[in-house]
Amino acid sequence: MDNLKNNLNKLRSDPGKIFGFVYPYILFVIIALGILYITNLGNIARQSIPLVAADTTKLTDLPVIEPRTVPPINIIEISQPTQELIAQGKEAYTTICASCHGEDGRGSGPASTGLNPPPRNFTNKEGWKNSPKIAGIYTTLEQGIPGSGMIAYNYLPPSDRIALAHYIRQTFVPDPPVDTESELTALDQLYFLSQGKEIPAQIPVETAMNLIMEENSTTVQTLVQKVNQVNYESDAGARVFNSVTSNKLRALTTLNSDNSWKQDYQKFVRTLIYNVNSNGFNNNIFRLSSDEWNALYNYMNRLF
Ligand code: HEC
Repeated sequence: MDNLKNNLNKLRSDPGKIFGFVYPYILFVIIALGILYITNLGNIARQSIPLVAADTTKLTDLPVIEPRTVPPINIIEISQPTQELIAQGKEAYTTICASCHGEDGRGSGPASTGLNPPPRNFTNKEGWKNSPKIAGIYTTLEQGIPGSGMIAYNYLPPSDRIALAHYIRQTFVPDPPVDTESELTALDQLYFLSQGKEIPAQIPVETAMNLIMEENSTTVQTLVQKVNQVNYESDAGARVFNSVTSNKLRALTTLNSDNSWKQDYQKFVRTLIYNVNSNGFNNNIFRLSSDEWNALYNYMNRLF
């Protein structure tokens, strides 16, 4: 007791000594903070990594295309630039390509901002992935340049694409290299240019997905209604169905996916016993008598 009093008195007369008492605690806090810092070094370092530039090479969705016939072209003839072809190319270029490649062909159109790789500067002869020849530009338009903002423009009629190639070559490319006749013939053979072709209808992926989803959701709804129906019916076939299924919705989906079984009893049996369990039916299916099979078949024929 006296000892404590002595100490307190000493402290009062010399407040600097307080440090001696709290020092171990300060040391402890500093060490704890240090450990905390070291164990979090990973996070701290990770946060200081500069953000990688966002990938701006987003592809646009497919345009809607009406089904149509592509008229054949004579590549040798059309490979010679004419005033008409160049005018036709200029119009297409201004409406479709200039937003990225620029009115001046230098690749700095308003939509080029942030594109990585940037749109090609047509006045620069270096680094073309295909080539500034007609066949090269045609190939670029047919296939696009994968991994870049340059999508395929294969929905454009071949004559428009050749016209675009002429316009770009005549207007921007310095001394455009000339295609050899064999290069042109190869292009013709590769893309059936002199044969023409039928272009099937094309709708944007998103629209197609929505259609499929709508279609599926109505299918699922009708199947769910059928499940309810089976649950409440006392028909012999309905009772058999309830006893041979592990998942009624899946079982009905199996039957719904291909209903050629309606005309073919053998096929019906095969559909039910093939892949039992994953098709929604269970092993009881192997114990059915022929009467039960008949009842089930007739019932399913009525249900679908
Ligand atoms: C959304 C922007 C964009 C539009 C629109 C666009 N391009 Fe491109 N294009 C690019 C980009 C980006 C590249 C560079 C690709 C690369 O170097 O990987 C490119 C490259 C090219 C090339 C050079 C291919 C090569 O051999 O290296 C040609 C030719 C070309 N585009 C033609 C066209 C034509 C013709 C149109 C219009 C029908 C068009 N582009 C529309 C972005 C675009």
